[in-house]
Amino acid sequence: DWNSGNVIEEQVQRIREQVGSARVISALSGGVDSAVSTALVHRAIGDQLTAVFVDHGLLRKGEREQVEKDYVASTGVRLITVDAADTFLGHLAGVTDPEEKRKIIGREFIRAFEKVQRELVEEAKAEGEPIRFLVQGTLYPDVVESGGGAGTANIKSHHNVGGLPDDLDFELIEPLRTLFKDEVRAIGRELGLPEAIVGRQPFPGPGLGIRIVGEVTADRLEILRDADAIAREELSAAGLDSEIWQCPVVLLADVRSVGVQGDGRTYGHPIVLRPVSSEDAMTADWTRLPYDVLSKISNRITNEVREVNRVVLDVTSKPPGTIEWE
Ligand code: XMP
Repeated sequence: DWNSGNVIEEQVQRIREQVGSARVISALSGGVDSAVSTALVHRAIGDQLTAVFVDHGLLRKGEREQVEKDYVASTGVRLITVDAADTFLGHLAGVTDPEEKRKIIGREFIRAFEKVQRELVEEAKAEGEPIRFLVQGTLYPDVVESGGGAGTANIKSHHNVGGLPDDLDFELIEPLRTLFKDEVRAIGRELGLPEAIVGRQPFPGPGLGIRIVGEVTADRLEILRDADAIAREELSAAGLDSEIWQCPVVLLADVRSVGVQGDGRTYGHPIVLRPVSSEDAMTADWTRLPYDVLSKISNRITNEVREVNRVVLDVTSKPPGTIEWE
């Protein structure tokens, strides 16, 4: 019978045999799959593994700290963080088309990752042990969706941070290939990972970049980050996390509406709440959240986040609306 302890034992053995004394790289995204696969590989081979986390500046509040502090504290993983926010913002300047944003974010992610990778390859060579492996958090549903060839690096680019380069000379380590999401979460808990990471709802690779309708700027990111943090906090406090598949919080950056706040008239931006219930994100229904929770989120966002004077609720199912607004 299925037992996360057994799976861990078995994978640790298998990874050790596959890797030998070579070095391994892993890209952490902040999401469940890369966090668990990386922790599993670390359990097997310790400091032969280096994890790389690219901060593209499009993360939610606290996510970088979660990885740098809590994740590292609970696993002992050797982590390199790449501070790439300015580079990403530079390339996103003036861009409003959603697919264009995705392309840029995917491309810059690969660039940032490859730069560190080259440095690590050189370093490892100097120490006499080549880097031969790359960890991927591929799950069973990804394998099925992409046609299932063994060791394929070609997972739907949609579901990864842009997808990793396919010209890499690395063998893949994919310890989650036979598992479903709930099994991966069980393994993560067994490995002692922080609940905030293990229980995290889906979050797109391009991050907040596709939750600002309009150009992505540092100011706008700050507004959205604050609003998103309030919504997440109140939904969790109301015990609704397990009822909601995910809840994109979207800033309509190019829309303004008149409001009255404090002593005067304002001309601010709307924030959209998009709570959805779903099994697999292919279809979704809007979640009927309790009015008092919606009211609390709305009051807090309009009181605490500058430049937001209106909160609206998206009551569209998928289809016809996608889960994200871009
Ligand atoms: P849509 O908006 O297509 O979203 O209904 C379905 C699921 O996919 C996520 N999503 C993405 N994930 N890169 C990702 O890694 C992307 O570009 C991307 N776009 C959407 C979305 O959050 C939802 O879970």
